[in-house]
Amino acid sequence: MTNEVVTTGGAATPANPANTRLRGLLLRLKTRFWLRLNALGKLSNTTAFKLTLVYLTVFALFAAFLLGYFAWNTRRLVTEQITRTVDAEITGLSEQYNQGGIRRLVFVIDARARRPGSSLYLVTTFTGDGLAGNVGLLGEGVLEHTGWTETVYRRLDDPEGTEHHALVRVFELPSGFRLLVGRDLEERERLYDIILSAGQWSIALVIVLGLAGGFFVARRVLHRIDAMTETSRTIMAGDLSGRLPTVGTDDELDRLAVNLNVMLDRIEALMRGFKEVSDNIAHDLKTPLTRLRNRAEEALRSGQGEVGYRAALESTIEESDELIRTFNALLMIARAESGQASTLMEEFDAADIARGVGELYDPLADEKGLALKIDAERALPVRGNRELVTQALANLVDNAIKYAPPTEANSDGSPADVVVEANGDADHVHLSVSDHGPGVPVGDRERVVQRFVRLEQSRSQPGSGLGLSLVSAVARLHGGELRLEDNAPGLRAILVLPRGGPQLPQPSE
Ligand SMILES: Nc1ncnc2c1ncn2[C@@H]1O[C@H](COP(=O)(O)OP(=O)(O)OP(=O)(O)O)[C@@H](O)[C@H]1O
Ligand SMILES: [Mg+2]
Repeated sequence: MTNEVVTTGGAATPANPANTRLRGLLLRLKTRFWLRLNALGKLSNTTAFKLTLVYLTVFALFAAFLLGYFAWNTRRLVTEQITRTVDAEITGLSEQYNQGGIRRLVFVIDARARRPGSSLYLVTTFTGDGLAGNVGLLGEGVLEHTGWTETVYRRLDDPEGTEHHALVRVFELPSGFRLLVGRDLEERERLYDIILSAGQWSIALVIVLGLAGGFFVARRVLHRIDAMTETSRTIMAGDLSGRLPTVGTDDELDRLAVNLNVMLDRIEALMRGFKEVSDNIAHDLKTPLTRLRNRAEEALRSGQGEVGYRAALESTIEESDELIRTFNALLMIARAESGQASTLMEEFDAADIARGVGELYDPLADEKGLALKIDAERALPVRGNRELVTQALANLVDNAIKYAPPTEANSDGSPADVVVEANGDADHVHLSVSDHGPGVPVGDRERVVQRFVRLEQSRSQPGSGLGLSLVSAVARLHGGELRLEDNAPGLRAILVLPRGGPQLPQPSE
């Protein structure tokens, strides 16, 4: 025989499947409840919802005041109407008394009191004994004072004998008789109650609808803000291609998103430019640096004596100068492209720049046997960065002198080889440099303004392919353009600048 061991605690009892299911359901309900509560908390924390609450409170207070005023005025009007009716009746009855004495008054009151929906009437002697009327019970001391009182009363003809409220006037007739006339106040109170309860219900409805509307608006706004926050998170994480969502309603959120997207476009373009520059530097400066290093190493290894070392050092200095020039050109392009230089804008004469640059390059042109002509008589005021515009024009003249060979017999009055010209119209200034050299083929004109791009035909000349990049960046900085045209033969490069300087991009309203 085996002994059954019963465990009472400690060990886990087998779970009841119904219990487990119930517990799971409760847990799910609880989680859902907390999630909802959390969402509600988030909604009620939005500006849209808070604004709704403020409007709602102001509106509800105003509505309550208006309804209270309306109810109070209605009550006052009804009271006024009652007093007018009672006054008229008292005047009529005292006339009856004056004409026919107390007997006639009693007779008239008896007749009137029997009419359905009649007023309240009571005639008493000066000791308070009732002579006629339809009032059975009155509040204490009502008959003792003449004038208006609100009192409880009971009608004689009311079989149930319930108490009501009435507004009564006690009037003392000559010879001490007292006349009481009054009207029931039940209708006035009912009207008052109806207006008050209608008011309460409408305010409650306004609050409920207002809150629902507030939640709805807040949810819509929150939904859109959440979407924007989500996108900005991906942008912050490094994905610059993300853009804020717009719904096309052109409301304030849409306009903000559009403007921020334009800003992101600009940042992305700048970042791309920055990457291009670093790639270019890495690629195009590595070769001359390596060459420099190898030459120094070669000179050291070969041990050619002082003459050899001197020659190696001289070529090293020459190449270093070339590298420094390239670095300077790159820095200047970066400065023009970053838009930083747009803060250093001033008013200057473009013709003055043309004359200055022309004169500076005249000796160099002379040296190469080229005739350089400057055509810049008329003053051309323009707003821009003087230093960068000067450098840009200098780059164009440098190219013309470098790439255009002298024409034959230019000294005998034939057209000049290089012409530096400054002219313009009401809105723009044109600084142009024309030569009679090989020119730039139409297909290469877009490419040639990129950094480090040099055409095959010019490889024999020194240069790093950065001159036109700077001209183009300066043109962009000023909101102008660089045009490369055919000078048949040769190249005509025109730097177009708006007279008023760069215009800031207009944000959408
Ligand atoms: N006036 C011109 N006539 C013919 N080709 C030109 C002329 N100007 C520019 N180019 C062509 O455009 C290329 C780019 O010119 P850019 O001024 O940018 O560089 P670069 O003159 O080669 O070097 P850098 O100006 O940096 O010393 C030149 O290498 C040349 O092939
Ligand atoms: Mg050049």
